[in-house]
Amino acid sequence: MTDYLAELDAAAEADKFALVRRWIDAEPLPFFKALRAQRPILVTPTATLVTRLDDCIEVLNQPKVFTVKLYDPKMSEFLMSHDGDAFHTREKSIMQGFLNRDDLDDVRRMVRNIAADLIARANGQLEAINGYTRRVPATLVRDYFGLTGEDLDNLIEWSYWNQADTFYNQPFDDHSDEERQHIIDEHARTSGALGKYIVELMARRLLAVKAEQARNLLFAAWYGMLKLIRLLTGRKNDTLSDDIVTRMLRSHFADAVDFDLKRVGVNAGGLLIGAIETTSQAVAQSLQYLLDRPELMAQARAAAARDDVSEFDAIVFETLRFVPISPYLFRETSQAATIARGTDRETTVPAGGYVLIVTQSAMFDPRAFDKPDEFNPGRNWYHQFHFGYGAHECLGRYVGAVMIPEMVRQLVLQTGLKADGGIDYEGGHLPQKYALSWS
Ligand code: HEM
Repeated sequence: MTDYLAELDAAAEADKFALVRRWIDAEPLPFFKALRAQRPILVTPTATLVTRLDDCIEVLNQPKVFTVKLYDPKMSEFLMSHDGDAFHTREKSIMQGFLNRDDLDDVRRMVRNIAADLIARANGQLEAINGYTRRVPATLVRDYFGLTGEDLDNLIEWSYWNQADTFYNQPFDDHSDEERQHIIDEHARTSGALGKYIVELMARRLLAVKAEQARNLLFAAWYGMLKLIRLLTGRKNDTLSDDIVTRMLRSHFADAVDFDLKRVGVNAGGLLIGAIETTSQAVAQSLQYLLDRPELMAQARAAAARDDVSEFDAIVFETLRFVPISPYLFRETSQAATIARGTDRETTVPAGGYVLIVTQSAMFDPRAFDKPDEFNPGRNWYHQFHFGYGAHECLGRYVGAVMIPEMVRQLVLQTGLKADGGIDYEGGHLPQKYALSWS
């Protein structure tokens, strides 16, 4: 067994983070266990790692001290790169309202239909990343979020480069200078294409909504007060379908709210970027975890066949504790900041320091769960970090929480499902290929 701390302490300063990076990537669970026990807050020249539940929560609850400044160069106009300011509060709360949680049964049904259709058309053989784990959320982005009129492959590509640059092209990621620049260039190229598309989408959809509203007014005047009252009280419209972009354009905010057409467009783009690669990675990794463990797969298959999906969903989220989309969230300190003050692990990070909040480790801390090393579905949801925690908790978490398990479920239900090899990451962090077949 590796003595991580001894090896780390013996390494030259310049080599320490490369070791940490290697262990995070290759053997996260034993490495994090050693850290929690021996050095729960690990200071390295590149970043400080925080590994216990209480300390992760402490850090994530102080957004103005442990900031998302590292997101800023990647997406400065979007709520995600703002910390505890008026902009973040305003945009996030408005978007949470549009993503009405009362939609979730319909969303699950949509996901089920999209997934079942792709599976039926695959005829028992599927390259699952491009043919399923990316395509289902991309279709939902089109049909539920309302980003219509674009090739799904483009939606997928735009989401991919944004995610690859924002989350996996940071100072603590292992890339050569050429690789870093390539990711930045691809992100810039695809952001340009996304921006053009969003402008065109806003113009096209605004025109349709205005035409609908004019028709409704005429209609209301014609048929008198009753119709007008129905319109004012939010009668569902029958000429345009309901999706999030349409909802945003149908709504009117007073100028003082500061949510104009440009904000609608930026947030529509945010829905696309957030949805695709995250879902794709979670679904692929959860499925692989099950396929690699036949006994667990049998348990999952039995749960998948039931009408009540709660047991199946709990299995999927328990797999993600072992194979999360990322083992950590990252932040940059705006000032010198002390973590775990008054304990024997008290550590001060200087201003401008990077902090890795190792949320996967927090989910294996015995403070979070009984027997954390065991696979035990149905654990306390409040100690799980699949969708982040605190001010930046995922905007799409409720959509993700039905989309991910339903997508896994539709594949698990296929008789004789098997993988031809593991997920191929093509040297990066995001799944690129995963060959599946069934009878
Ligand atoms: C389904 C559509 C999704 C949308 C529209 C979406 C959107 C977002 C947005 C806008 C944020 C930033 C929130 C803020 O800064 O206040 C966010 C954060 C986050 N999302 Fe999502 N997301 C989606 C799905 C997912 C999925 C499937 C996962 C994981 C499996 C995920 C994981 C996260 C995490 C971990 C964060 C926190 C990042 C941080 O704290 O730095 N998201 N999401």
